[in-house]
Amino acid sequence: LQDPRIARISSAIRVIPDFPKPGIMFQDITTMLLDTKAFKDTIDLFVERYRDKNISVVAGVEARGFIFGPPIALAIGAKFVPMRKPNKLPGEVISEEYSLEYGTDKMEMHVGAVEAGERALVIDDLIATGGTLCAAVKLLERVGVNVVECACVIELLGLKGRERLGDRPLFVLVNAT
Ligand code: PRP
Repeated sequence: LQDPRIARISSAIRVIPDFPKPGIMFQDITTMLLDTKAFKDTIDLFVERYRDKNISVVAGVEARGFIFGPPIALAIGAKFVPMRKPNKLPGEVISEEYSLEYGTDKMEMHVGAVEAGERALVIDDLIATGGTLCAAVKLLERVGVNVVECACVIELLGLKGRERLGDRPLFVLVNAT
């Protein structure tokens, strides 16, 4: 049985066709942020799931993981760690390359932000191919962090993003095609 809050969240997400290029149906969460109940319900659903799970790190993926990660981190008493696009973080970083539709991109995390043995939640707004989330997971695992779960507001079905994550659990609120 689906939580009754999900329907409102789902309908508050706007879909914009042909953005950023023809053929892409862009899932725009900014309209959901304007609906104070839907935004709060979104954060609450994640907080209810992850409180009492002994999570000390919420790792948010640039850019929209920076919107959802911090309120969750504050509510569950975890620290927030930004996973950033290359050459944005000023300190010493470790980086992970990942493949895009055309070419590659890189994600970076500050060395020293996390310690081996910590338990982390990785959050973003959306999973499509899973490449982005997977890179974030790998960065954390490389330094000995236990990624308890990945979470997204939206899962784009049909792109096998979930498969790319392998055995790591993925929790999403809304499915889209
Ligand atoms: C989107 C989305 C995820 C990523 C998912 O970010 O917010 O971070 O794509 O795609 P994947 O599962 O195929 O890797 P986008 O590329 O729009 O970058 P932005 O967050 O910096 O706008």
